[in-house]
Amino acid sequence: KSASMIVDKDFVIGKVDDRLYGSFIEHLGRAVYGGIYEPGHPEADERGFRKDVLKLVRDLRVPIVRYPGGNFVSGYDWKDGIGPVADRPKRLELAWRTVEPNLFGLNEFADWSKAAGSEVMWAINLGTQGIEDARNVVEYANHPSGSYWSDLRVSHGYREPHKIKTWCLGNEMDGPWQIGHKTAHEYGRLAQEAAKVMKWTDPTIELVACGSSALGMKTFADWEATVLDHTYEHVEYLSLHTYYGNAENDTPTFLARSLQMDEFIDSVTAICDYVKAKKRSKKKMFLSFDEWNVWFHSHESDKKLEPWQVAPPQLEDVYTMEDALVVGCMLISLLKHADRVKMACLAQLVNVIAPIMTQNGGPAWAQTIYYPYLHASVYGRGQALVPLVRSDKYDTKDITDVPYLESVAVHNEESNEVTIFAVNRHLEESLAFEADLRSFGACNLIEHLVLENDDLKAVNTASAPDNVRPHANGNASVDGSRVLATLGKASWNVIRLR
Ligand code: AHR
Repeated sequence: KSASMIVDKDFVIGKVDDRLYGSFIEHLGRAVYGGIYEPGHPEADERGFRKDVLKLVRDLRVPIVRYPGGNFVSGYDWKDGIGPVADRPKRLELAWRTVEPNLFGLNEFADWSKAAGSEVMWAINLGTQGIEDARNVVEYANHPSGSYWSDLRVSHGYREPHKIKTWCLGNEMDGPWQIGHKTAHEYGRLAQEAAKVMKWTDPTIELVACGSSALGMKTFADWEATVLDHTYEHVEYLSLHTYYGNAENDTPTFLARSLQMDEFIDSVTAICDYVKAKKRSKKKMFLSFDEWNVWFHSHESDKKLEPWQVAPPQLEDVYTMEDALVVGCMLISLLKHADRVKMACLAQLVNVIAPIMTQNGGPAWAQTIYYPYLHASVYGRGQALVPLVRSDKYDTKDITDVPYLESVAVHNEESNEVTIFAVNRHLEESLAFEADLRSFGACNLIEHLVLENDDLKAVNTASAPDNVRPHANGNASVDGSRVLATLGKASWNVIRLR
């Protein structure tokens, strides 16, 4: 099989916003307790932050982290997580049926984010709370001082405001599983009023309204149109969420799922532009793909968990080689839409459907999906270029015309580098790949990184953390502005050129 691609520096999709490589920490399972925060762990600093986890996060260069949920946030009172730890209440947490001890909250997360080199994306509760808490949490976090909530923050030891710029107006409010689930009209009105008082409190913030929690939701499209009807002039972003799985062990279909992600993004963009036209608005709505990943491995074991534990092992998917390929294709999908998708969050970051795993009291390690995320975040900054791809194709029972090659290139003008990200979806054969970088003139190869494994179900574990890891022995070669490479069967490739 063969595939080719034209990469031209003038065919720009858009500048890749750094926040495309965001992630997510929810008060769920061992993401916080035993994940980023574990006082008493040999690697914990004086604040209880695990330094081994921080190192893995910093290496990823995660620009922004969504917090504190997720479904959790729709029942969360942010005031439970501030002030002296000894005074904070333990609560029954209804979204995940656990006990939340509130040892970690807004100020601790702001400190952790700073240590991780990330910004905070704070999600407010629009399930059980309303506009009063929406304005108060902005005042507490961002107002300098001289008012009740800002002075309370100062009294908690935080003289400087946290200056949280990005705020999500609730989470998955279209989902019947959500605490305080709403119709599109109910949510749209509430989100609009919350947005007003939040921006009156701090006009510098940016807001994300909830879109659908999946393309397959029955209310999809009407939900977006109605919510934007209420909120269009009050928010900067509309959210999208999606998770893919391979419960049926149909790997060709699983690897093709990112085409549905393309379709989802294209459809939401069209709805945003429809509302813009209807309102005769001058404003362009951007997208925040603030939950995306593979999620299915842990579904069965999660059903067996005893309720009301503190930080049980929930949603602990152990990711395979093939999951890493799907994550790679999803990253390429995001890059192909860099003109409209300005933020995205790999859900999640530590232990809970995460690229980073830990053992309580034990080591931290990188899962298979860590590597495509790392490569895209480190090398995928600059201008995303239109991928003019010709590739042999295949059909699955659900999805037809699936190209074996999924690819996109990013041009970093500052470092004068071009990076081609490419997945070969073929499970048995390699792809003879050729890229024409005509407008770049003669190029030199920096390296050709590859993630591959003969066993598509291979995983990394505490005892074998390097079972699946990239090598730099790809065979790409350059002849002037032509790049030739063999892309191994079922492989993720990063071809770096200067
Ligand atoms: O990321 C796990 C969960 O998936 C989140 O809490 C929720 O928003 C989504 O359904």
